[in-house]
Amino acid sequence: MESTMNEIINIPLVDLKAQYDTIKSEIDSEMQAVINKTAFIGGEWVSKFEAAYAKAYEVKRCISCANGTDAIYITLKVLGIGSGDEVITVASSWISTSETISQTGAKPVFVDIDPDYYLIDISKIEEKITSKTKAIIPVHIYGQPVQMDEVKEICDSHGLYLIEDCAQAVFAEYKGQRVGTFGITGTFSFFPRQKSWCLR
Ligand SMILES: Cc1ncc(COP(=O)(O)O)c(C=O)c1O
Repeated sequence: MESTMNEIINIPLVDLKAQYDTIKSEIDSEMQAVINKTAFIGGEWVSKFEAAYAKAYEVKRCISCANGTDAIYITLKVLGIGSGDEVITVASSWISTSETISQTGAKPVFVDIDPDYYLIDISKIEEKITSKTKAIIPVHIYGQPVQMDEVKEICDSHGLYLIEDCAQAVFAEYKGQRVGTFGITGTFSFFPRQKSWCLR
């Protein structure tokens, strides 16, 4: 009898080795220069990166952090979000989006995602807003942008901070505008996601 079990197949999203091979000498010499100068924390290369990223992204400023999780946490702290506050987001994201909210002492409040694109269901946001809500963190997931004009309108009309989690959608655009440029901050990640899986 033929098996009805699903078979898991690996689908590489990006071949980092192939990318590296094309610019190997450039990367190797820069890495060696960092090591020679023991410039492991901050310094010349971090400043160069921030300037280059801000230029490429066409924004005023890029501030580097250790990772995308820290970027969300630091943003929340800078905005004074903490105990007694609520932050609206989605459960269908990497854990960093909600764990950083909890880490500040605030409460993550989850809105359902839409079944077609797995993005926050805009029509269900307003029913979750209370007097404790301070911010909304839409997550641009699987490279797909959230409908940012609608989320921004909700944030503006309720006086809420808009923080965009762009970890999975670097350089994605919504109506010709890059994700991460609609809210007070956009947070990014360089997690080297080489693989994803699907069931066949
Ligand atoms: C949607 C989302 N937000 C935040 C993060 C956190 O980024 P990092 O792994 O750089 O801390 C990730 C990482 O995969 C992510 O997918």
